[in-house]
Order: sequence, then C-alpha cells, then structure tokens
Amino acid sequence: MKRLAIFASGSGSNAENIARYFSDKPEFEISAILSNNANAFVLSRARSLNIPTLVFSRSEFNKTDKIVSFLAEKKVDFIVLAGFIWLLPLNLLRKYPDSIVNIHPALLPKYGGKGMYGMNVHKAVVENKEKESGITIHMINEKYDEGRIIYQAKCSIAPNDTPEDVAEKIHKLEYEFFPKIIEQLL
Ligand code: GAR
Repeated sequence: MKRLAIFASGSGSNAENIARYFSDKPEFEISAILSNNANAFVLSRARSLNIPTLVFSRSEFNKTDKIVSFLAEKKVDFIVLAGFIWLLPLNLLRKYPDSIVNIHPALLPKYGGKGMYGMNVHKAVVENKEKESGITIHMINEKYDEGRIIYQAKCSIAPNDTPEDVAEKIHKLEYEFFPKIIEQLL
C-alpha cells in the first residue's frame, strides 16, 4: 500500500481529481490533505471525500516538526503538491528524498520562480502573446529550481484567449495527466 499526502493552498480541484482517480485503486490511499490556508476550499473537498486534513501556520511549517510528525503518524510515503504556494522546509525535504512531486501551470523553465503561481502565470502568458503554454510535473529537491522534470504537456493559446481561457486549458491538461504520472512515479 502506498500512502499519499496532498498539499494544496486554494480551490483544490487537482487534489479532488487525484483523490477520485485513486479511490478505486486499493493499492493506493490518499491519507491526508494538508493546507496552509484554513479557508481553502480544498478542505471542504477533503471533508466530502472523507480524507483527514491538517492546517498549519507558517511558523509551524517552517520551524517545527508538526508536519513531518503528522505525516509519519499517517505513514505517508509520497507527497503531491497540487496548487501549494509555499517553499518546503528542509526537514520535510530530507524526510522525503525524491518523493515529492509538484505541478506547475506553465512550461518550465518559462514562467517559473517567485510569484509565478495560479492566475499570475496565465496573465503573464497572455501579456507576452505566447502561442502555447502547458503543464510541468517535476520532482522537488533541496535545490528548488533543479527538480527533475518528469513530464510536460502543451496546449495552444489563441490570440484572443483570456487568462481565464488559458487557466481552463491548463486545468484540463492537469486533470488528464497529473494522476497518471503520479501513479507511474509510485
Ligand atoms: C493549478 O493550476 C496548479 O498547477 C497551480 O495552481 C493551480 C491550483 O488549482 N500551481 C502553481 O501555480 C504552483 N506554482 P487547484 O487548486 O484548482 O488544483
């Protein structure tokens, strides 16, 4: 049995999609959904899916072992970042070497780095009149920007696409590929 934890900061549509994908696969369990945001909609989704949750503050995350202890208690083997906006602290990275995967809503190395998350990415893509964008699924390691890229998928951007249109195209790619790639990694 492989036990996964998902970290998410906002809506959590990817978290829900991943949980539904694995729900009929007995060899996998989504053991917890964790968030830095007590008001995040992902927590309501977790409750509907009967998945335990943990909410933490920035100082708990960065300065204590609350999160690693919780994950150990739940016997979590693998971590999925699905719309999680904080950088991970060293204690967590060291406990999960090569076992943390992230999804980024653009074709890294383009549109990565500080402040580049969610709609900010899609707005920048539209402002720069890009003809394509996509998703990047990559591992997280101690050298944040050097995590191995596992998979990328592209979509085309029409000249009149709004950032919301781009977000919709990206979400479609995320829903299709992220659970499958996670399964392959496990
Ligand atoms: C997703 O598009 C994900 O790629 C992005 O946040 C969105 C979360 O949507 N992640 C980042 O920007 C990380 N840098 P969701 O909450 O509906 O899954």
